[in-house]
Amino acid sequence: MRACRRQEVPHTPVWYMRQAGRSLPEYLKVREGVPMLTACATPDLIVEITMQPVRRYGVDAAIFFSDIVVPLKAIGVDLDIKPGVGPVVADPIRDRAGLDALRPLEPGDVPYVTEAIEALVGELGDTPLIGFAGAPFTLGSYLIEGGPSKNHDRTKAMMYGEPELWHALMDRLAGIVLEHLRLQIAAGASAVQLFDSWVGAVAAEDYREFVLPHTRRIFAGLEELGVPRIHFGVGTGELLGLLGESGADVVGVDWRVPLDEAARRVGPGKALQGNLDPAILLAPWEVVERKAREVLRRGAAAEGHVFNLGHGVLPSTDPDQLKRLTDLIHTS
Ligand code: CP3
Repeated sequence: MRACRRQEVPHTPVWYMRQAGRSLPEYLKVREGVPMLTACATPDLIVEITMQPVRRYGVDAAIFFSDIVVPLKAIGVDLDIKPGVGPVVADPIRDRAGLDALRPLEPGDVPYVTEAIEALVGELGDTPLIGFAGAPFTLGSYLIEGGPSKNHDRTKAMMYGEPELWHALMDRLAGIVLEHLRLQIAAGASAVQLFDSWVGAVAAEDYREFVLPHTRRIFAGLEELGVPRIHFGVGTGELLGLLGESGADVVGVDWRVPLDEAARRVGPGKALQGNLDPAILLAPWEVVERKAREVLRRGAAAEGHVFNLGHGVLPSTDPDQLKRLTDLIHTS
């Protein structure tokens, strides 16, 4: 929390995106026979899975176990998370009628989120809990494409070809996301991260026109709640300044841009989060150590630095590597 606020810290804090997930044997065990979205709606499982990496690694923050599509499912969107694929939507949104079916989110729609966060805050003690949501562009991409997409073709077709419908969809999603983040903070989340994982597909000038107004609204709507706001996307080297302009306190950086250069692009008044390439964890420890020290060295150029990977933990990662990495960051 102090690093997010650009205050002095005794050591660089560290957590990992997707730390609660498929690389942990204890995760695979509790998930046996339980579909992903069932797990995300079961408070006991949410609490247990969120705690697993905190217990094992001693990371400085817990990330709430859920998924970006959970609020969409909660308002009645017919979707599922298919193993090895990702979110799949039965009736993709392609027109006004599709948009009209997306109703606003109310706190009562996700009682299991509130319940799990309240329980976690008690269990975590001094360790902060990071709540999260998917950003309108990334959620919109799943809703428009109907599933994961390499080129986001239909998404961009709507963005460029039907700008009015696009902005109406982004606006509707921004409202849902804002409510979802607010209710997580109200339940006790100490910080929030807005994942715009796929927004790196958009050129900077189009980001400014088609995406920025909506993320701005979300971050502005969280301002009065006073918790650090983290914003992350993959392949966003050309967008880093704009991600900061959206109103985030912390800009998450993938592995493509070194943190000293990222600090220059983001400008003053922001902390950075990142950015070891998750694939480096598959190399021998000596390589991990050398590369992690390099991330720390360059991260020192930022006004605040939260160590993380440049994207999520890969399922084949050896948890012992993450344990050693966490210890290295804490003692460096
Ligand atoms: O530890 C954490 O970071 C918290 C949990 C978390 C999950 N999803 C759990 C999950 C978070 C923060 C997310 C966010 C999420 N979900 C994003 C944004 C972050 C990112 O990685 O860019 C996105 C794009 C999604 C959509 C999604 N959900 C994908 C692409 C997948 C993977 C599909 C696959 O199997 O390859 C999911 C499923 C998912 N979400 C899993 C987990 C642990 C795996 C499902 C399983 O264990 O069966």
